[in-house]
Amino acid sequence: MSNAATDKPVWRSLLYVPVNVDKFVDKAHTRGADGIILDLEDSVPPSEKAHARTLIDAAAEKVSQNGADVLVRINRPIEMAIRDIEAAVSPRICALKLPKIESASHVRLIAELVGDLEAARGMTVGSTWLLPMVETADAFFSIDEIAKAHPRVYTVLLGGEDFALDCGFAPDPEVYQYPKQQSIFAARAAGLTPMGLIGTVADFSDADAYRAVVKHSAKFGFEGASCIHPVNVPVLNEEFTPPAEDIAYAQKVIEADKAMAAEGRGSFEMDGKMIDIPIVIRAQRLIARAERIAARGNM
Ligand code: COA
Ligand code: MG
Repeated sequence: MSNAATDKPVWRSLLYVPVNVDKFVDKAHTRGADGIILDLEDSVPPSEKAHARTLIDAAAEKVSQNGADVLVRINRPIEMAIRDIEAAVSPRICALKLPKIESASHVRLIAELVGDLEAARGMTVGSTWLLPMVETADAFFSIDEIAKAHPRVYTVLLGGEDFALDCGFAPDPEVYQYPKQQSIFAARAAGLTPMGLIGTVADFSDADAYRAVVKHSAKFGFEGASCIHPVNVPVLNEEFTPPAEDIAYAQKVIEADKAMAAEGRGSFEMDGKMIDIPIVIRAQRLIARAERIAARGNM
C-alpha cells in the first residue's frame, strides 16, 4: 500500500479493468501490472453504475493479491463523482483517476472531499493520490496549473480518445505528439512523473506497432502508461524498465565522475563522449528509478 503523504509508487503499467466484468477481475492479479485501474467510467454502461460502485471493495481485494496497487477511475458528472469517491476511498485504494478535469480548482474540490472521507474513515489524510485527466481543448490550456493543483496529484494525464474527439483530430500517434509532450512538460514542471503514450490505448492488438509506440513514448520521457488489455502489460513493463546496458553505462558514468571529481574535473571524456553534470545526474536518476522498479518485487 502506497501513501501519498509519504512515498510515491512506481507504475510502469496500469491495466484498466471494468469493475463489473467478473472474468476480467478474477484473473487481473495474474497479468503482472504494477497497478490495476478499476473502472467506473466509460467501460461501465449507465444502467450498471450504481451496482459497479458496490463491487469496488471486493474487486480491490482480489486484484491486489500479487502486490499490484489499486486505482479507481471515477465518473465526471459531479453527482456521480461524489458517489464514486464515497464508494472508493479506503485503505485498499491507492489513487483515483479523474476524467475530464477542467481546472485546478476542480482538482482541489475533489481533494477536499477525499481528505474529509479519509479523516472520517480513520485513514492517513493524504494517502490517496489523484490522477487528473485533461480531455478537452479548454482544459488543455490549464494543464500546468492542473499539474500543480494539489500535493495529492501523482501525474497529469492527457486523455486519448476523448481529447481527440473534443479537438476533432484523428487519434493517430503523429497528431498526439504535441499535446502529449505538453503533458510531459507540465508534469516535470510540477515535479511529477509523466505517464502516457504518444498514441491511444485503443490501439492494443498489433503487437509490433504497440511496442514501437511504447519505445517512442519512453524516449520522449514518459515513465509508464495505462492499457486496456493484458497483452500490453509485459510490453509496458519491459519498455519502461531501464535496460541492463543503460544501467551498466550509468554506473560507469557515476564511477568515472567520482574519480574525475577527485582530480578536480567536472567534465571529462569517456568512450568518446563528453560527460558533465547533467549527464551524471541523468545517470543517477536512472539508477534510482531502476532501484524503485526492482523494489516493487511483484513481477
Ligand atoms: N482486464 C483484465 N482481463 C482482461 C481485460 C482487461 N481489461 N481484457 C481482456 N481480458 C482477459 C480476458 O478475460 C481473457 O482472459 P482468459 O485468459 O481467461 O482468456 C484474456 O484477457 C483475453 O481477452 P480477449 O478475448 O482478447 O479480450 P476481448 O476480445 O474479450 O476484449 C476488450 C477486448 C478491448 C473489449 C477488453 O480488453 C476490454 O474491455 N478492455 C477494457 C476496456 C476499458 O477498460 N476501457 C476503458 C478505458 S479507456
Ligand atoms: Mg475516456
